[in-house]
Amino acid sequence: MRQADIPEAAVARLAKLLLERIGLRPATEAQIGLRLALRARLEALGCEDPYAYVEWLEGGNEVELRALLPLVTVGKTDFFRDSNQFRALRAQVFPELIMLARQEMRPVRIWSAGCATGEEPYSLAMLAAELGVEPQGIDLLATDVNPVAVERARAGRFGARRFATVSEHLVRRFFEADHDSFVARPELQAYVRFEVHNLAGTCFPRPRDGGCWDAILCRNVIIYFDRPTTSRAIGRFFDGLREGGYLCLGYSESLYRISGAFELVELEGSFLYRKPVARPLVMSEPRPSLEDTVARLRKAVDEHRKRAMTPPGPPPAVLAPKLAAPEKPASSRAPELDVANPLQQVARLLEGGEFEAALLTLDKALVQFSGSLALLITRGNLLTVMGRQKEARQVYRDALTMEPLCAEAHLFLGIACYEAGGELDGEAAQELSRAIFLDPSLGLAHYYAGRTAERQADFASARRAYRNAVNVCQGKSSWTPLLGHFPDLPSDPGVIARAAGYALAGLEEL
Ligand SMILES: C[S@@+](CC[C@H](N)C(=O)[O-])C[C@H]1O[C@@H](n2cnc3c(N)ncnc32)[C@H](O)[C@@H]1O
Repeated sequence: MRQADIPEAAVARLAKLLLERIGLRPATEAQIGLRLALRARLEALGCEDPYAYVEWLEGGNEVELRALLPLVTVGKTDFFRDSNQFRALRAQVFPELIMLARQEMRPVRIWSAGCATGEEPYSLAMLAAELGVEPQGIDLLATDVNPVAVERARAGRFGARRFATVSEHLVRRFFEADHDSFVARPELQAYVRFEVHNLAGTCFPRPRDGGCWDAILCRNVIIYFDRPTTSRAIGRFFDGLREGGYLCLGYSESLYRISGAFELVELEGSFLYRKPVARPLVMSEPRPSLEDTVARLRKAVDEHRKRAMTPPGPPPAVLAPKLAAPEKPASSRAPELDVANPLQQVARLLEGGEFEAALLTLDKALVQFSGSLALLITRGNLLTVMGRQKEARQVYRDALTMEPLCAEAHLFLGIACYEAGGELDGEAAQELSRAIFLDPSLGLAHYYAGRTAERQADFASARRAYRNAVNVCQGKSSWTPLLGHFPDLPSDPGVIARAAGYALAGLEEL
């Protein structure tokens, strides 16, 4: 199908759908991009009729919407996005990779997969240059499925406002001012090669010398994929990495239930995945995984709730003098921050029931690791547990300003809005719907979407949502770990499946 064969009205309907479903407002000049995207999808699907395609999307085909999305949006990105991860790359990962590559007399091999307009690979290039690596000392490949984004990345021209996260020294060294933009100097451009590549395809690129990648960054990209596509891509990353090589995902992304092949390592407050080495080079204590930490957090909060529900008896005699004249309330003390493992420190405090101290520790940690979404969401959840709902909602909103594609933040904000008693139901419905779009496996989001719709007397939507909740939760023995904890989260997804089942039965009678 030629581009000219696509009628204006089909493009306009697609634009309307994108606005309604995900809040995307394609600019007038982007209508050409929309037309191109529509044509690409029609060709890929072997479909001749643009109206039939748009109708198919209007019918709620989320898998196809997800496939179309990267073609109509230029993904949000920033220079040095996720400062914690870049701190880990600078302090530990890059020095290790550079040393190994020098020992093996080969270039460092890095792939930025899903590079959008190039801020990520140029940040990596600046990092390498600052650590003394010459362009020929690194094979830095940057790819994206969106050819417009790749073209812009290759041109290396960025508006002045994009540089808020780049130090003046780096801007001066690596960019040249040109009117109200900055252009990457040829010295910087020499570090990166750009290519169009589809991560949902079968053929994955190798380093120029045919070896394996030392590190693959695929950050904030798997959001566009359904679970099978994610699993396939992660499997191919695993095959393409050398043993001990790193896989960096976005800070709200995890491989839980997708792949158990990688080990999770915490470096400088950031979580990275590493392909295990057959024989460890260094013997060290195994680090607790993020999943373990979250499970411990949950257990602690559950215990706290149980204790809170138990009527207090008289204090044991041995404790009485201490309680009568405490030196300082334990809750007001903020312990020294464990900068290597702040989240685990918070978990330990919660295990001991020290909620105020946990909150103070989180505040301290957030000063140090201001970009950590895990810490921020944990703070929101802790405030919820402590009954400070309004503040909790604001924390989730802050998390979403930081990372608009974080499914957990949408979920928790949606639930928190629902719990406001009805006055925030509009926001609850919108947030829960976004959470579901970003992660359809979130049974809790379907369930609360049902409750919200039911309260709004939209019974057809409520039934649909409850059915989805049942489908997603049935047969599951544990939750997909979420960052943090929500106090009404039952210990077992089966509980939600049953609750949704009852709610559904109630509605069938209406
Ligand atoms: C939100 S941006 C992330 C950019 C950068 N990695 C970061 O974290 O700042 C997501 C990018 O993934 C790209 N993407 C989506 N689906 C893809 C696919 N199937 N293959 C390759 N890239 C894809 C999009 O085009 C978009 O540029």
